[in-house]
Amino acid sequence: MKALVLSGGSGTRLRPFSYSMPKQLIPIANKPVLEHVLEGVRDLGVTDIGVIVGDGGQQIAEVIGDGSDTGVPITYIPQEEPLGLAHCVTLARSFLGDDDFVMYLGDNLLPEGVTTVAEDFAEHRPEAQIVVHKVTDPRAFGVAELDAEGRVERLVEKPREPRSDLALVGVYFFTPAIHEAVAAIEPSARGELEITDALQWLVANGHDVRASEYDGYWKDAGRVEDALACNRQLLETLKPSMAGEVDTNSRLDGTVVVEAGVRIVRSTVEGPAVIGAGSVIEDSHIGPGTSIGRDCVVHRTRLTDSIVLDGAEIRDVTPLRNSIIGRAAHVGAGEQETTHHRLIVGDDTRIEVAASC
Ligand code: DAU
Repeated sequence: MKALVLSGGSGTRLRPFSYSMPKQLIPIANKPVLEHVLEGVRDLGVTDIGVIVGDGGQQIAEVIGDGSDTGVPITYIPQEEPLGLAHCVTLARSFLGDDDFVMYLGDNLLPEGVTTVAEDFAEHRPEAQIVVHKVTDPRAFGVAELDAEGRVERLVEKPREPRSDLALVGVYFFTPAIHEAVAAIEPSARGELEITDALQWLVANGHDVRASEYDGYWKDAGRVEDALACNRQLLETLKPSMAGEVDTNSRLDGTVVVEAGVRIVRSTVEGPAVIGAGSVIEDSHIGPGTSIGRDCVVHRTRLTDSIVLDGAEIRDVTPLRNSIIGRAAHVGAGEQETTHHRLIVGDDTRIEVAASC
């Protein structure tokens, strides 16, 4: 079986970060989302991975490489415009040939994996097999209606009034029958070739489309709040390690990963947390759920439940929580004693200050 990983798209829900990096490279527990995805794909036993990339393709290729890290060769397939998930299947036609394949959305995190679904698909080979997950509000997802045996009866993309609570997870198993379906459908109202419509075409034309329910942790990391939630969740799975220096006035509690070249001075780090290579934490309190990237400086700051990207500096800000600080961003008190705030803020940035007392 091959894999098609979708890593293009526009990333509007992850602005301002997606202005300068593809959303699939946002670090979760200090590892790009896409790296987590590729590990999940590798565990399904695939032989080749095709990765659809958009404008950020070069950055993705620089970070992810040719697949030597995961041991499965990667072919990059450019997509000029995000014309939909089913459009990605048409672009990958020659890469996929007549093989079965798993299509995996490059922003979906399923740390518990879907190997049992892959085994089930390989054994029974319905024309398509989708993965569904019960959610309280399915309106932001594809929604499936099933019969008692798990056969799909109807699929609708982001319905206003969902007829079931089963959201489509971004992992789909396909036989080559999908190629006829994607060729038959028309763009949706939002101008995209929807994979949900291609699946619905298979159902309407009498093909066997099955669904497996996944009840592990699942998040689409394509929104700021969800990226923070994923970070908290994946930090829980880390094993503590220490490759840096911690002075005698500092304390590490719980699961903390300290990478090479890190210096922790007069500070407390409460896990789960990861401090990336070369970062300096001084006179600070790092709380649970925090990932600090490489070569960051955190000085006289209390920070919890946050993601700090490479090269960022945070000085004299306290307390900060549920925050994402972009690459090489500087956050902190001014040079001189001052009574006002000064902000140099990029497009679509969100700043929430504590209410003044
Ligand atoms: O997260 C699960 C949901 O993913 C499903 O429930 C929906 O049925 C499915 O349509 C999809 O909805 P999203 O609105 O979340 O899809 P998004 O536009 O975020 O794209 C998902 C991934 O595919 C993302 O990594 C970007 C990539 N992509 C997207 C489009 C539209 C491409 O590579 N090319 C594209 O043209």
